Amino acid sequence: MALRPNLHPGEFLLSLPDEAGRVALAGIFGNDHPVELEIGSGKGTFVLAIAEATPQRNFIGIEYARAYAEFAADRLRRHEQTNARLVHAEASWWVRCHVADAALAAVHVYFPDPWPKARHHKRRLVQPPFLKEVHRILQPGGVLRLVTDHADYFVQMERVLAEQQELQVVPFESPVALKADAPEGSIVGTNFERKYIAEGRSFHATMARKPG
Ligand SMILES: C[S@@+](CC[C@H](N)C(=O)[O-])C[C@H]1O[C@@H](n2cnc3c(N)ncnc32)[C@H](O)[C@@H]1O
Repeated sequence: MALRPNLHPGEFLLSLPDEAGRVALAGIFGNDHPVELEIGSGKGTFVLAIAEATPQRNFIGIEYARAYAEFAADRLRRHEQTNARLVHAEASWWVRCHVADAALAAVHVYFPDPWPKARHHKRRLVQPPFLKEVHRILQPGGVLRLVTDHADYFVQMERVLAEQQELQVVPFESPVALKADAPEGSIVGTNFERKYIAEGRSFHATMARKPG
């Protein structure tokens, strides 16, 4: 069900045919500006904010819940945010199919689904194959940012980062100047962050860089 009536995401909802293969992504925007990717954009609050704040960069958000993807893309259209697009897809599949090697300056993953039950941990996004793929799609010097409220998932994130040698863990830096109305304690400014701050939860954040 649509989150809002009369959504018209138009070209802000990006759809690539399978035969397009892996593409450099900046071409979608008609320029050669750096491209950043957010996985699990929800209602698009972060991708909209960072695209507004950073017009000299391009942003793509991927979201597999259709209602959220359409809502977020419509939001980008209403704001005429021409340096951002939303993709309705499962992120691992879309990245494998469509993102060329070294196409991205950053990958953002904020409050990914924690799958708390042990038998569901294999569904978590941040696993060794995901980090391999992030290393493939990042440019040298590009960064991966991870934020979660879930302590156990964060232990897994730190473990899989420590077990690989391609990405270097570096001190976390917020990706964008936060809006003036962001609540105290915000580090990335997403919807879930706002909700969790109101609930008094604390966050865990880490960042890793592709050497180069
Ligand atoms: C807990 S919400 C967080 C949303 C947003 N990042 C925030 O902080 O407000 C996780 C979102 O990621 C989406 N998602 C989870 N796994 C995904 C995947 N593999 N590909 C694309 N979207 C995914 C979910 O549909 C959901 O909207």
